[in-house]
Amino acid sequence: MGGTITLVEGRNVTAPSPVPEKQSLRRSWKTTIAAGAVIGAGILLPLLFLAWLIIPSDLDFISDYSPIRYGLMAIGAPGLLVFLIALIDFVVDRRRNQAGRRFPSRVTWLSAGVSIVIILAACGYVTLPKLLRRGDVPPQLIVTGNMLRPPGGEFGLSLAFWTGKPTTNTVRWRQGGSERWQEWSEAAAGNRHWFAFPGLKPNSRYEYSVNVGNATAFSTPPTPPEGPFRFAASGDLHIGATRSDDYLPKPVLDAITDPTNRYSMFFMLGDIVHLGFRDDQWKEGVRVISSLSSVIPTCYLIGNHDRLFGGVDLFRDYLCPRASDDLRQDHFWRRIDIGNIHFLLLELEWEDHYYTAAQEQWLTAQLTDIPQQDWCIVMSHTFYYCSGSEEDGWPWWDNQDTIRRLVPLFEKHKVDMVFSGHQHHAELLQTNGVTYVISGCFGDLPDPRHDHISPASTWLHLDDVYSFVEVTIDKDEAVVVFRDRNHQELHRTVITSQRVAPEISGRRRGKA
Ligand SMILES: [Fe+2]
Ligand SMILES: [Fe+2]
Repeated sequence: MGGTITLVEGRNVTAPSPVPEKQSLRRSWKTTIAAGAVIGAGILLPLLFLAWLIIPSDLDFISDYSPIRYGLMAIGAPGLLVFLIALIDFVVDRRRNQAGRRFPSRVTWLSAGVSIVIILAACGYVTLPKLLRRGDVPPQLIVTGNMLRPPGGEFGLSLAFWTGKPTTNTVRWRQGGSERWQEWSEAAAGNRHWFAFPGLKPNSRYEYSVNVGNATAFSTPPTPPEGPFRFAASGDLHIGATRSDDYLPKPVLDAITDPTNRYSMFFMLGDIVHLGFRDDQWKEGVRVISSLSSVIPTCYLIGNHDRLFGGVDLFRDYLCPRASDDLRQDHFWRRIDIGNIHFLLLELEWEDHYYTAAQEQWLTAQLTDIPQQDWCIVMSHTFYYCSGSEEDGWPWWDNQDTIRRLVPLFEKHKVDMVFSGHQHHAELLQTNGVTYVISGCFGDLPDPRHDHISPASTWLHLDDVYSFVEVTIDKDEAVVVFRDRNHQELHRTVITSQRVAPEISGRRRGKA
């Protein structure tokens, strides 16, 4: 250092030049680009990720449900934090430039880096499990189509399964007692396999086999009112919610599949899996339920957990029939007619977020179209009247949004029964001529207590409710039975249709 001073003095330089200091503060263009990219990514990635979560998943941003609200805020927070730190850093840098301070400082670099790492990790958590689709999904009998009218003699049913690797398969089927198999082979290899069974006759025994494997027998429903029609419904399997095997109701599955119990159809009311973006949970869920759905024609409704973070694509691939393109692409509401019993399956998962003008128009048209003397049954994942407690800031009882927007339609058109899941208990409620059924919890842990009992409640069962509801409709009478995990009867009620023959209906209450 001393030698340097001597040389400078020898050239008569009296004061050190400020130029080298200014140059040391100036950033290279590479540093500028790197700083801009890192800080920009630190700010924008959380916001883009947030948009990706909200838009395709249709999460309700203004939901009153605290975990969703705080979760979304937590995701957006790193971006906002990086923006504030960078802004403060920049302002301080401008003011203290002569003091030798640089922008961006280590704090800005660090905050941007941490933000990027957090968001990439979160993004990987919700996207990778959906993309890693290894393994097969066993065959299921899925009820297909929007409007299935047995009077024509056919019952729309498809055999659906998934193979981890693209394969071509052959399915054959025949009516019981027939020697002749009908066969359908796929033309091209694929993962998703749907085989429609054309020309199925009602109330008949059939069998099918995949790739000339063992034959599996199943029956098609009768055509009411010519015979009694029995179906089972339950919701909230929530595969993946617990590690306990206890949630698998094997005795229930066995009871529903037992031909002597005469169940013709099964309705799964949503929340099949706990985390809809986890392909492994979907595969486990379908595997668990396939002992039932491979022999009983099954319908699935989508639940809020199923849809989570793009899970809707997995729902479509595994459980949603491709018979109707508009059903697959735009919405999941549908109508199924079994003789004089009409099922309206709605796409309602929490409050009324999915109750669009189009769905309302469709529902009104169906309710108007269904013959006055026929049975009309509505199903959705979320509930209307229901008992419950406040949980995480959301009132889990009498859902004011769905009551306000849908119940007037139910009452006006004299809907007979409305089935829901979403709540993890079994309950029967009746008000203004409509019976509301909370089906019981098919898998997840039951609700421990309820602080608010709905005025419409006539029977409520908490605690051990790994159960389902059984409905037998014969002529103008429906017997509703709640069953527990051992298929034992918990509660029974008889409902007489308010949509009976017009002349009787006129005498009884008049139709609005
Ligand atoms: Fe649930
Ligand atoms: Fe739910």
